[in-house]
Amino acid sequence: MRSHQCGDIRAEQIEASVQLCGWVHRRRDHGGVIFLDVRDHKGIVQVVFDPDTVESFALADQVRNEYVVAVEGRVRARDPAAVNPKMDTGEVEVLGHTLTILNASRTPPFQLDEYSEAGEDVRLRYRYIDLRRPDMQRRMRMRSEASHFVRSYLYDQKFVDLETPILTKATPEGARDYLVPSRVHPGNFYALPQSPQIFKQLLMVSGFDRYYQIARCFRDEDLRADRQPEFTQIDIEAAFVTEKEIMDLAEGMVSGLFAKLIDVNFSEFPVLTYADAMQRYGTDRPDLRFGLELVDIHDLMAEVEFKVFSGPAQDPTCRVTALKLPQGGDRLSRKNIDDLTNFVGIYGAKGLAYIKVNDRTTGSAGLQSPILKFLPEAVIEQVLDRVDAEAGDLVFFGADKASVVSDALGALRAKLAEDLDLYESDWAPCWVIDFPMFESTDQGGWTAVHHPFTQPTASSDELIKDPGASGSRAYDMVINGYEVGGGSIRVHDPLMQRGIFEVLKLSEDEAQEKFGFLLEALELGAPPHGGIAFGLDRLVMLLSGTKAIRDVIAFPKTQTATCLLTEAPSGVASKQLRELGIKTNL
Ligand code: AMO
Ligand code: AMP
Repeated sequence: MRSHQCGDIRAEQIEASVQLCGWVHRRRDHGGVIFLDVRDHKGIVQVVFDPDTVESFALADQVRNEYVVAVEGRVRARDPAAVNPKMDTGEVEVLGHTLTILNASRTPPFQLDEYSEAGEDVRLRYRYIDLRRPDMQRRMRMRSEASHFVRSYLYDQKFVDLETPILTKATPEGARDYLVPSRVHPGNFYALPQSPQIFKQLLMVSGFDRYYQIARCFRDEDLRADRQPEFTQIDIEAAFVTEKEIMDLAEGMVSGLFAKLIDVNFSEFPVLTYADAMQRYGTDRPDLRFGLELVDIHDLMAEVEFKVFSGPAQDPTCRVTALKLPQGGDRLSRKNIDDLTNFVGIYGAKGLAYIKVNDRTTGSAGLQSPILKFLPEAVIEQVLDRVDAEAGDLVFFGADKASVVSDALGALRAKLAEDLDLYESDWAPCWVIDFPMFESTDQGGWTAVHHPFTQPTASSDELIKDPGASGSRAYDMVINGYEVGGGSIRVHDPLMQRGIFEVLKLSEDEAQEKFGFLLEALELGAPPHGGIAFGLDRLVMLLSGTKAIRDVIAFPKTQTATCLLTEAPSGVASKQLRELGIKTNL
């Protein structure tokens, strides 16, 4: 139907006859001539109709925004005064000869270039219109390029692309399952996969050696800006590998992706241990684009009278920690500090003590702080020395359960960097390794930090004796504070796998019922194996420069897991429920 795409018309086409198709972006009537800006995903070109072409002129008079049209015409240079250097096609226009209206459009719910006034609900309700915007086109096309790059990278490395079931059994990745009722087996349910984890391990038992899949995963969990209930993983597994081999492969893939798509070249990724990341950044997904490290000071606070600090300082499950904001004294007002105190409250912190350093040569006279009166001058000096405080600096303090202090000061660190633009580089990828195998739950039990198929560093006997002491052979890739991928060397010894289930308080019967098929496979010639999975959506989010995962998914869900376009989830006919043997209780 068309000879060119609208956005491709240039001075080289002057005098050429062209056939274009697209959407009417805007229509302007300039007394006597009608201008249609016709748009496709390549861009916009100006088409002019004058009254000489009687029929087309009359039609041009009728079209409205977002009408779908075909135009035949001749490319000509614009008058010098009308050249628009902001448009790629701004030197030319098309003198329209024939206009065909391919389809009309109701008045659209929002104009494409006024989308920000529309509100996200409207944009999601009319997602197909929102996707016409150049930004969205760019992101979706970037996503397609990313998956194309990944596929060819992994294909070249001899990985086999295999699909695993969607209607399956629960795979524990720490979220709730989405369940699908079975009609033929009333009262029974499939679970949608939280990841292809168990199947990819089974493929290693099958001798596939190197597997990958761009796989849809489903997790019923609390949503955030970087989390969707259904999302896409680049899922990778290989047999007879060490963690170094998987990490090298994954680093090569991600570095290649950034170089190819946005021309960013990473050097070798730094590797941090989990313990180091928690201690210095308060999180296992540290943003290394800036400094601002947490500094522990519990040893200095153990003997002070200020109970808020000495209590936690003497408790091994707690942390007392300082965070210095260089030259923060001028950058933050009292009001800002009050706001930050409320902010850390979200993470459970009971306060946010601080010392503002005006002058370090005059003892406490040069300091401003609500806690000066509670602390001996010598201790304050030692604290300021430890964080290397200078005149103008602001030092924050957290004292509480270790997890509260890490969460609160880790989040404060990220917020200060964002609010005050403290970034020293655009990109900071890293690896985090040496995770603990388990963490304790509030109910006094244990839960796997990654998943229960991760190889612990302890033997199975040691593991059962002291689950909290074992490390795991897991690794996460983090970029700019986002966990983009995670994986591990897996358990291939059935005894060890049973030991892990025992720590997780699965009875033998439960283990058999839930994972019997895996345990059996491990008894039937399972090779050592390991792998990793990346969040494709998160990678594209970073590559395309947005903070919202919804921006890189064509048809995303809202924060409450609904699709505003189709209105899913929705009720179903009672007949369907009867067939499934389901009664709702609502
Ligand atoms: P994990 O649970 O860490 O590991 O998931 C791997 C990566 O998937 C992305 N991701 C998400 N992205 C968007 N929305 C979500 N709700 C969401 N949840 C996770 C993250 C994360 O790093 N089977 C293991 C991998 C393995 O061990 O090989 C797994 O699923 O970027
Ligand atoms: P208070 O004794 O409660 O008046 O607290 C004195 C100062 O210590 C205030 O600036 C509080 O914000 C701060 N503070 C209170 N509890 C904590 C805590 N757990 N960690 C850090 N600072 C705190």
